Amino acid sequence: MKSHSIHVCRECGTTSPRWVGRCPGCEAWNSLDEEVVAKTTSTTRSPHATVSLHRVGDENETRLSTGVGELDRVLGGGLLAGSTTLLFGEPGVGKSTLALMSLRALATAGQSVLLIGAEESATQVAQRARRLGAIPAGLEVATTTSVGAAVALIEERRPALCVIDSVSAMSDEELGSVAGSVAQVRNAAERLCGVAKETATALVLVGHVTKDGELAGPRTLEHLVDTVVRIEGDRYGTLRVVRALKHRFGPTGEVGLLEMVSEGLRDLPETALARHPGDDDVAGVVFTVTNDGSRSFLVEVQALVASSSGSPRRVAHQVSSQRLALMLAVLEARCDIDVSDLDVFAATAGGLAATEPAVDLALALAVASAAASFAVARSMVAVGEVGLAGELRAVSGLTRRVREARRLGATRVVVPAAGELEAVDGVEVTRCSTLAAAIELARGRADEGPA
Ligand code: TYD
Ligand code: MG
Repeated sequence: MKSHSIHVCRECGTTSPRWVGRCPGCEAWNSLDEEVVAKTTSTTRSPHATVSLHRVGDENETRLSTGVGELDRVLGGGLLAGSTTLLFGEPGVGKSTLALMSLRALATAGQSVLLIGAEESATQVAQRARRLGAIPAGLEVATTTSVGAAVALIEERRPALCVIDSVSAMSDEELGSVAGSVAQVRNAAERLCGVAKETATALVLVGHVTKDGELAGPRTLEHLVDTVVRIEGDRYGTLRVVRALKHRFGPTGEVGLLEMVSEGLRDLPETALARHPGDDDVAGVVFTVTNDGSRSFLVEVQALVASSSGSPRRVAHQVSSQRLALMLAVLEARCDIDVSDLDVFAATAGGLAATEPAVDLALALAVASAAASFAVARSMVAVGEVGLAGELRAVSGLTRRVREARRLGATRVVVPAAGELEAVDGVEVTRCSTLAAAIELARGRADEGPA
């Protein structure tokens, strides 16, 4: 076999035939490594096959349900035969669990499935699988790190679904570089995507992320696969968010909510994220609605203000620390609420991140409520961006937010003076032009007691 060498950037995966000091792709210095490339890597594909275009839509519609409703929803109905999905996230977030659940569901439905484990022994995989329930007879496992062996197995078995856990651990003996290197991961993904297409196998590649949350290995991995799904969540919490970042055959930006329980991951109704408006009123708690993908989520924003020993701390959990700093400055300058000597903690209850500017008003109101010790009625939901002049600015998707607030029991929604809004029955919509006015309103409302 003929082979040649190329130079691959460790940072972004850009290749260059010659070594250069600075990567032409991402401009990082000294980031190019020499890699040996086998000439035969792409010969497994039949290059000149044609298809009759009017039949393409039909065969593409074979969606394989993963058995996890929220994942199916993100995928636009399920995994597609012949397509490759990259599933990535931080260690411990639940990638192996989610992949295994899909394998179990399809095996239970009588489909042939194959797990290629490159990181754990069959015993370890079986232990995890038993936590999820009885193991269906059709769930086959092979443990290997060899790309060639994996490709051969898929060609021989032609499973409906094959999971590679993980693609980062797969390597090709014929390449000179170490497992996990850019050239190895790209080569593995390329060959596995190719065989998945040939055998009409739905392929799931599990991928790792680095410390800063980026996909380990080359970014080019994202270009090779059809679909990229990220699992997000705090590994010590139970909430998980699955999100399609790229989707060749369905919607992108769609989000799904899952909960990690002792029997694996299960669908989480969005109503479980916050207590409903109408529970007991407590100072420092304000509801808002955040939009993510095509969905709207009710979020409970909480703030706590406490005397400080030493330099005051600002802690933001699942809300933006920049937006929190901005709100504190606006509260001091425009609303006479000064917390500059106090510790301020702000968070969302339930664990969903709410970092968009539309959350500003709830965040500012929560801090004001905590600092001035008044409770905001829980029947009230606040939505709006706060500007530096203390003005409330229009937000996108307002009608959707108001509808969701109403659906979950709010009787009043405070919104910015400007912004398009269709009529929503059964909820009082109050327009405010400034944060100060919204605080007065929330205060007055609180004096009347819960609605
Ligand atoms: P895992 O799927 O191994 O994560 P990853 O492959 O992304 O590294 O699961 C990680 C965590 O999930 C682990 O700490 C144990 C926990 N877990 C449960 O809580 N319930 C379960 O049923 C399973 C299988 C795992
Ligand atoms: Mg794993």
